Order: sequence, then structure tokens, then C-alpha cells
Amino acid sequence: MDKLRIAIPKGRIGEDTVELFKKIKIGRSIDMKSRKLVFNDYENNIEFVLLKNADVITYVENGVADIGIVGKDMIIESKKDVYELHNLKFGYCQMCIAGKEDKEIYNSDSVLKVATKFTKSTKEYFENKGQEISIIKLNGSVELAPVLGLTDVIVDIVETGSTLKANGLKVLEKMYPVNSMLICNKISYRFKYEKINKIIKNIIEVEGDEIDD
Ligand code: PRP
Repeated sequence: MDKLRIAIPKGRIGEDTVELFKKIKIGRSIDMKSRKLVFNDYENNIEFVLLKNADVITYVENGVADIGIVGKDMIIESKKDVYELHNLKFGYCQMCIAGKEDKEIYNSDSVLKVATKFTKSTKEYFENKGQEISIIKLNGSVELAPVLGLTDVIVDIVETGSTLKANGLKVLEKMYPVNSMLICNKISYRFKYEKINKIIKNIIEVEGDEIDD
């Protein structure tokens, strides 16, 4: 049978993914603490590759990886052409507008300055709300922007809220909920259907044993 390549993001979602994979008895050799980026599961004929969150969809869309795990925030932002096969029960957070307490978001007389990593989805969101904005793209530590006066607000994911709190910011508006998703390359789904579906079936089975939080 053909080898399956699975893209896993580094970081929090990656750790939850590896934990889930170990429950369904795949990817036992994956060690997130090592510097290695490729891990082989010879028994199940699966190769795992560790990537940056935002690159998982690119590898899957191009068919270099057959399936991948990624946050919905990235799917919405990238608009890439992949199948969203299964909603995973982790990576829960909210895409939010945040800023200093009482900062006004909507004002037809002024242009709101927004810092974010998620430029396309932010632009679309404010367009639908009829609020004019100017976007500053940042790659991390987005919370600093309103603190130092680079922008009025940020658009970013909020999980526990501790990063906002630690920097004196508040959620001003919740935009949409985010969780992790198992995505699949469209051609891989046709040609490796059985193997991919077996993985999803096994995931659903172990998810059934867990209590939802
Ligand atoms: C995300 C996000 C926030 C933080 C929110 O960053 O950009 O900074 O998590 O989480 P919290 O509400 O639990 O504090 P991440 O740690 O993924 O790092 P990144 O900035 O490199 O994307």
C-alpha cells in the first residue's frame, strides 16, 4: 500500500495531535522535543513531517503531504483548496478583536488601525461590518502593537486570555470560534481513501471515549 505523509504543526496543536495519534497507535516515534522534522512509522507505512502552522495547508494543497492538522483560523485565512475532513476536539480558541479597555472599534468617521497575522480574513470581516481599517501585518507578539501605540487594536486568537491579560488588553469583540481540523489533499483522498478513512474512523472511536470539555 502507498505510503501516507501527514503534516503536523509545531506548537500546542502539534502536541495535542501527537497525543491523539499515539492513542490510535500511529506515530509512536514522533518526538516533539527533538530537532528532527521527519519521523517514520514503518509499521503503518506513514511518514510524519513537522511544519510551521501556516505551512501545513500549503504542503497539503500541493499534495506533498496527504493529510494535515491545522487550526480553522489558518484555513479561513489561506482560502486554500483542500478537503476539511474532520473537526478535532482540541485547539479550541476564539478569533478576537482586542485592545485597551473601552477602545471603540466602530466609528464611521475614522480609520481603525489593526495589527494582525490574519490580514485577509481581518479585511473581509471589517468590510462586512462597514468599518474602514488600515492593517499592519505582524508575525508574532501582536499584543505589543496597541500597547506601544502602533495600532488601535489587534485581531488574534485568544485561548486562555492570559497573553492579553499580561499585556493589559481585553477582548473587545469575539469574531468566530476556532478549533483544529484534519485536512486532506483532494487527489490523495481519491487514491488513498481507505487508509485516510481508517485513520478518521479510529480518531472518532477514541474521541467517543473522551469527555468533551
Ligand atoms: C497565540 C496568539 C496569542 C496567544 C493567545 O500565539 O497569537 O499570542 O497564542 O493564547 P492565550 O490566550 O492562551 O494567551 P502562539 O503562542 O500560538 O504563538 P505565535 O505568536 O508564534 O503564533
